[in-house]
Amino acid sequence: MARDSGPFPGTAPEPAGRRIAGYRIEEEVGRGGMAVVYRARDLRLGRTVALKLLAPELTRNDTFRRRFTHESRVAAAIDHPHIVPVYEAGETDGVLYIAMRYVAGRDLRHLLDREGPLPLATVLRIAAQVASALDAAHDHGLVHRDVKPGNILVAQGTDSDHPEHVYLTDFGLTKKSLSLSGFTTAGQIVGTLDYVAPEQISGKPVDGRCDVYGLGCVVYEALAGRPPFRREDDMALLWAHQYDEPPPLTGQRPDLDASVDRVFAKALAKDPDDRYGSCLAFVSALRAAATGVSRSGRPATQVAAPEVPGPPKWARPVFRC
Ligand SMILES: Nc1ncnc2c1ncn2[C@@H]1O[C@H](COP(=O)(O)OP(=O)(O)OP(=O)(O)O)[C@@H](O)[C@H]1O
Ligand SMILES: [Mg+2]
Repeated sequence: MARDSGPFPGTAPEPAGRRIAGYRIEEEVGRGGMAVVYRARDLRLGRTVALKLLAPELTRNDTFRRRFTHESRVAAAIDHPHIVPVYEAGETDGVLYIAMRYVAGRDLRHLLDREGPLPLATVLRIAAQVASALDAAHDHGLVHRDVKPGNILVAQGTDSDHPEHVYLTDFGLTKKSLSLSGFTTAGQIVGTLDYVAPEQISGKPVDGRCDVYGLGCVVYEALAGRPPFRREDDMALLWAHQYDEPPPLTGQRPDLDASVDRVFAKALAKDPDDRYGSCLAFVSALRAAATGVSRSGRPATQVAAPEVPGPPKWARPVFRC
C-alpha cells in the first residue's frame, strides 16, 4: 500500500496489534482532518478505549501543544454524563494521543448523512444532552470552539424514554482558530466551516456563546437537513456567517411553528450579546416554540449535598506531555 494512504500524509496506517503507549490497536474507527481514531485495548487495565492519534504537524505546533495539554486536563476533570471521559493524554514517539471512552455507535454526521432531517423529538433530545455538556464545560471556563455533528457521538440509549445517549467530544482540539488567524499554512485541512461563529472568524475573544452559535447551526441542520449557510467556497461561507441572515428554518420545515425562526435568529445572532446566555436556554426556547411545552423552569433533583469540586484523586487521569 502506498505510504501516503496512511492516517497522515507520508505515514502508514497503524496495523492491528501495534502497541502505542500501553495500548494495543484493534481497528480504525474513524478519521478527521487532524487525527485518526482507533478502537484499542488498554493493556494495563484490560479495557477497550478509543485512542486518538493526532497528526504530527500538530505535535510540532507549540500553540496547539500548549492548548492540547491545558484543555485535555480541563476536559478530563469535568465529570459529566454527556462528555466523553478522557482517561489519559500524552505524547509518545513524537505523536500526541488521547485515550478516552470508546463509544459504540455513530457520530451525528453519519446519522444526518444516512437519515436526512431528524424528527423534532429526536432533535430536542439530542440537543438537550449536548447543551447540558456545553453548559457544564462553560461553568469550568472551557469553550469547545468546534461544535459540529462529527464531534457528537450517538450511542444506543437505555429504554424508550432514553432512545439514545449522546456524548460530546474533542474539547480544544480545533485547528480552526489557529487557521483563521493565519497560523497554519495554506492548503492545510481545517475541517468544516459550517458551524463557526462570527467572532471566531474575526479573531475576537470567544466565550461560551460561540458554542451557542455552533449548537444553533447543528440543531438547524438536524431539523432542515442542511446547515444554515451553504456557499460555493470557504470565503463566501465565512462572509455569510458574519453578515448574512440565516434563511428561516420553516422554509425547509413548514410543519414547525414560525416562532421557531425567532429562536434560531437569536441563537445565530452575529453579536454574542444578542444570543441566548446558555445552550440550555436555547434548547428550552426551541422546545417551547416548537411544542408549546416549556421545561426550562424545572430544576434538577437534588440527590446529595454539593461536593468539593474536582474528581477524587484516584480518578485523575495521567498526563505525559
Ligand atoms: N470516543 C470515541 N469512541 C468511538 N468513536 C469515536 C470516538 N471519538 C471519535 N470517534 C470516531 O472517530 C471519527 C473521527 O474523529 P475525529 O475527531 O478525528 O474527526 P472529526 O471530528 O470527524 O473531524 P475533525 O478532524 O474536523 O475534528 C469520529 O467522527 C467518530 O466517528
Ligand atoms: Mg472530532
